[in-house]
Formats: sequence, C-alpha cells, structure tokens
Amino acid sequence: MDYATPRERLELWEARAREMATHLSPMRRAHVEGVVQTCASLCRRFDEPEYRGRLAAWVHDLAREWPAERLLQQAEAFGIVGDDVEREMPFLLHGPVIAAWVRQEWGLDDIEILKAVANHTTGRPGMGRLELILYVADAIEPGRSFAGVEELRRLASDDLERAALAISESMIHYLLGAGLLIHPQTLLTRNDLLRRVRARSGGNGVTGWKTELAQSVQGWRAGRGKEVGDGNPG
Ligand SMILES: [Fe+2]
Ligand SMILES: [Fe+2]
Repeated sequence: MDYATPRERLELWEARAREMATHLSPMRRAHVEGVVQTCASLCRRFDEPEYRGRLAAWVHDLAREWPAERLLQQAEAFGIVGDDVEREMPFLLHGPVIAAWVRQEWGLDDIEILKAVANHTTGRPGMGRLELILYVADAIEPGRSFAGVEELRRLASDDLERAALAISESMIHYLLGAGLLIHPQTLLTRNDLLRRVRARSGGNGVTGWKTELAQSVQGWRAGRGKEVGDGNPG
C-alpha cells in the first residue's frame, strides 16, 4: 500500500475493521457504532483528526467476543505478559491483543491508534489525547444508560481529562459494588487523572491562581500555604 497517502491507508484499514465488525453480535456492533460516532464528535471538538478516532473506535472491540483461550493464546504469541487479574478475567486482554493483531495482520502502524485501542479498558497513566477520546467515548456512547451518564456526556464535551477521571471513578465504584476484581492499572489511571486535573486547577480544584502566578514569578515557592477559595480564611 505504498502508493496510498497516510489518510488513504487509514481509510482502507477502516473498511477492513467495518467488515470485521459485521461478525460481532448485534449488541456489540451497536455499541461499536455508538463509539465510532462519539469518537468522531470528540475528535472534532478536541482537534484530533476524525478519521483516526473513527478507526480506533472500529477496531477497539473486535476481539471482545473472542473466547478466553484464544485471547490467552494470542497474548502469549504476541509476548503480552498477562498478570493474575488478566489470567482470571482474560477479556481484559481484548484491547492489547487486537492492537497487536491489527499491527501484525494489517500492518496498521499508527502508534497513537494502537495505544488508544490497547488501553481502552483500564486506561493507563499518561494517556494522550486520542487515548483519552476513545476511553471516554467507550463509556458515554449513546447506547450507555447507567446512572450519571448524562452528566459524563456534558463533562466530556467540556473537559476530556475531567470526564476520564469521573469515568475511572465510576468504574471503580461499579467494580466495588459488583464484588469484582479491580485491575491495578484502573487505580493507577484514576490517580494519574486526579493529579493531572489537580495540577491544572492549582491543587484544590477551585482556583489555580497560585500555581499560575508561581510559574511567572521567579523564586515563588508554589505549594506553600493555601489558596484563597479553599475554605481557609485568609
Ligand atoms: Fe472494550
Ligand atoms: Fe467498547
């Protein structure tokens, strides 16, 4: 496919992914179509090329219905070292496995798309923009109907990191409530997002004036004392 432009290559891969998605169950296929739509609109909102978001969305759950044995075998073949939680719940491997699979079988080599697909279930610390978009879209696509999803949709149109933080926390609440194992990566993702959101807002989530000022004034010792607006008089 050397004759094709990078965008044309992505569109060819999208056609393959769309074809493969026709083999998913109707419920999963409807979910994937919802993620494609939501990813595309988040890409427009946050200045990410839409065709990359669409391709990541079409690919993300293509291995979601593979049997556990196939996921474990493929993970081993690709050198993906599963941990004890993944061995107990092999479906957690569907992201990393399909990312490696499309890389090997189709030569899909857009690393941002591969990372977004690989990490869409648990997230990871340090997620980039496309990873955040897919992680958020997966949770808020139109077919999702859990309590609080409308609020998450509003948040997502405004602030990707805050939306991802709220999604990771809602996932942790759900797993606790359902008595399910929590993958450590889910917790690391949540802590990272919390730090990122706090860092932007100056540490208390209300006002960032001291952080911003400290960066502009040489020798200002940021982090000392409290900011006005944190409930501490003076
Ligand atoms: Fe998934
Ligand atoms: Fe999904």
